[in-house]
Amino acid sequence: MKSFFNLMTVLILSGCATPGASLQEQIAATPVVVASSDCSLSKAHAVSCKLGRGINLGNALDAPLEGDWGLRISEPLFDRIAEAGFATMRLPVRWSNHADATAPYTIDPEFFARVDYAVDAALKRGLYVVLNMQHYQQLNGDTLQEHEFVVPQAVLEDRAVAMWQQIARHYQDRSPKLLFELFNEPRRRLTAQKWNALAERMLAAVRTSNPDRVVVIGPGESNNPKALQHLILPQDPYLIATVHHYEPFDFTHQGADFIPGASAWLGRSCCNAAQYDRITGPLNQTAQWSAANRVPVWVGEFGSYERVPMEYRAIYTRLVRDEIEKRGMRWAYWELASCFGIYDESSRQWKTPLREALMGQ
Ligand code: GLC
Repeated sequence: MKSFFNLMTVLILSGCATPGASLQEQIAATPVVVASSDCSLSKAHAVSCKLGRGINLGNALDAPLEGDWGLRISEPLFDRIAEAGFATMRLPVRWSNHADATAPYTIDPEFFARVDYAVDAALKRGLYVVLNMQHYQQLNGDTLQEHEFVVPQAVLEDRAVAMWQQIARHYQDRSPKLLFELFNEPRRRLTAQKWNALAERMLAAVRTSNPDRVVVIGPGESNNPKALQHLILPQDPYLIATVHHYEPFDFTHQGADFIPGASAWLGRSCCNAAQYDRITGPLNQTAQWSAANRVPVWVGEFGSYERVPMEYRAIYTRLVRDEIEKRGMRWAYWELASCFGIYDESSRQWKTPLREALMGQ
């Protein structure tokens, strides 16, 4: 048994497509590692099973100011999410641009009201909601964006913890279908060591008011599956881990205006045997970590940019969806109605091939 496991590890980590193999041959030859997905194992497992198929309401409340990235939240968007059959809405929020720079780092009540609106609109429709902290640029050591302000380096961590203290208290009486995700894509300045320490402090702040709400935590390097090995989860029975998966990156992000050099990737198709390996390798790695640690894992983001040809977006989307589900994990697509979107708000039209790829049989 042990040697079989070792062999499997080698296969997974080598992640090599057999030269000349067709996609079908590669699918047949690729091991499927299943995550810890027994829904009866714990409350966190039970909730992770209920997350089902989800969507990110991205690029609205996570822009520096709502509307900066062309999307404002409105009632019809929640109707669309519900009517498409999604079970979960992930709500990315840029709290850092709406809280004081000095202690006690008070979050602007008007902004809170806006987030309340989005959270409650989704809960009212029976959805699970994963509310996060996204784009605290300075905390990650990323460049600030237009309309953002600088805070002293020395307070970055304390301020993030104080924000969670406020957010958690504010939502403490909401339905258990509301989950908190501590921080989107820690990276750069947040080394694994710093992130592990900060996550522990953030969780402790949440737990002062929400002793048993399910909390989602992802690894460093932008929630990269390969960084799971460095993630030290706090001792807590109500945790779900999360990863993001955008491989093959030069396919999913071709032409993306926020990635330098991405226009050189325009015209890439998907998916051949080698690309398939880049999709399944990280998923197997994730599932293996989940099984070894008995922690459920949720794929909180995957998706492709609007300049990827639609034909290939649909193929990629269905393939990734199937590969995640084969491994006993649930997911949320990035995102609903912006540049990775599956719905076009201006024409009020679904991008049907993408909706089908996510939600069809
Ligand atoms: C991450 C970023 C988001 C970006 C997405 C796809 O979630 O936070 O802004 O659009 O990845 O690259």
